[in-house]
Amino acid sequence: MSTPTSAEYPAGGARSGAHPDAAQPGGSQPMAGSPPVGGPGPSDAELAEMSRAELVTLGGEMDGVRVVYTEHPAEPGSRMERRAERQVALAFTAAGLSGVAFMVLFPAWPWRQDYDGGAGFDLASLFTPLLGLTLGLALAFVGIGVVLWAKKLMPYEVVVQDRHEGASPEIERQTTAATLLSGLDDTGIGRHSLVRRSLLFAGGALGLLALFPIVGGFVKKPGDKLFATPWQTGMRLLGVNGVPVRPEDMRAGSLQTVFPPVEGGNRSPDGVTMLIRLLPTQAEGYRSRAGQEDYRWNDFVAFSKICTHAGCPVSLYEQETALILCPCHQSQFDATDGAKPIFGPATRSLPQLAINLDADGYFVAKGDYNEPIGPAFWERSS
Ligand code: FES
Repeated sequence: MSTPTSAEYPAGGARSGAHPDAAQPGGSQPMAGSPPVGGPGPSDAELAEMSRAELVTLGGEMDGVRVVYTEHPAEPGSRMERRAERQVALAFTAAGLSGVAFMVLFPAWPWRQDYDGGAGFDLASLFTPLLGLTLGLALAFVGIGVVLWAKKLMPYEVVVQDRHEGASPEIERQTTAATLLSGLDDTGIGRHSLVRRSLLFAGGALGLLALFPIVGGFVKKPGDKLFATPWQTGMRLLGVNGVPVRPEDMRAGSLQTVFPPVEGGNRSPDGVTMLIRLLPTQAEGYRSRAGQEDYRWNDFVAFSKICTHAGCPVSLYEQETALILCPCHQSQFDATDGAKPIFGPATRSLPQLAINLDADGYFVAKGDYNEPIGPAFWERSS
């Protein structure tokens, strides 16, 4: 297919008016002063002389585009336009301030919850809601600003275009570029410096805000927290109600979730442990992991409740088979074989807590887990 020259452009449009910039505020109006339609196109020299508005009109006509209605929501420079500009700027500024608030709250607001059993109000409980609120407000105000900008500052046009086929010759590329630039002009971004600056502020704040959760995680090293849990030698195993557990409290084939007796222990994500009383036949055939032969007490075994695959609580226990099931991805661990994984994506056994009875007949830990609980991480060797 041959490429038409500028002098052969197909004048497909029926429009006979000027660029919409020439329109008057308040409604549609006839167009005047456009290049000729349907006749020979401008020469290259004439093309070089044409203004952007004329190129926009020419490009529209080449594509069969007709602007059938144009309306400016406010007269340029009028009080109405200045008021609209302030409203848009206010929305963008509010978005920026919300973003700044997020960035201030993220490092400054207390986030570690004090587990006091619900006795007092904990500021840390507001950490996540406040982050969500400020982030939501930032995004909402950006949306409000954009809508106000489009509704109150940008011209409204009804444009009709006929479909056509073909490549894009130079003349079309130039006119298209002019149309796009004209559209940018229509946004008023060049004239409304208040909107421009407030939008930059909002955009900058939102851009930085997106980095905060990523960078924030590197600010503090976890130290050895990933290698240790609250369990220590002699600590009693407490039930969810805070009462120490004795062997006679559990029937054969049952499971109880236990926690270390430390402050906030009943919500401790690291210390949460499953105490299982195996059926007598299961206990007889119990297979210990190497070096952990004395970790159980009679029919009782205790394993970390945190799945070694991705950290979900493995809370389903099948009495008859002594299988512990993780509901997240269906990993299964054999409680009669040192909680070895036998199905699913988990590849490591659940860490076992060594247990004993104290002088009063309550279960106690013989120490902390001898390996990190939960999923693998970059610094652990096994
Ligand atoms: S977290 Fe348990 S199987 Fe994935």
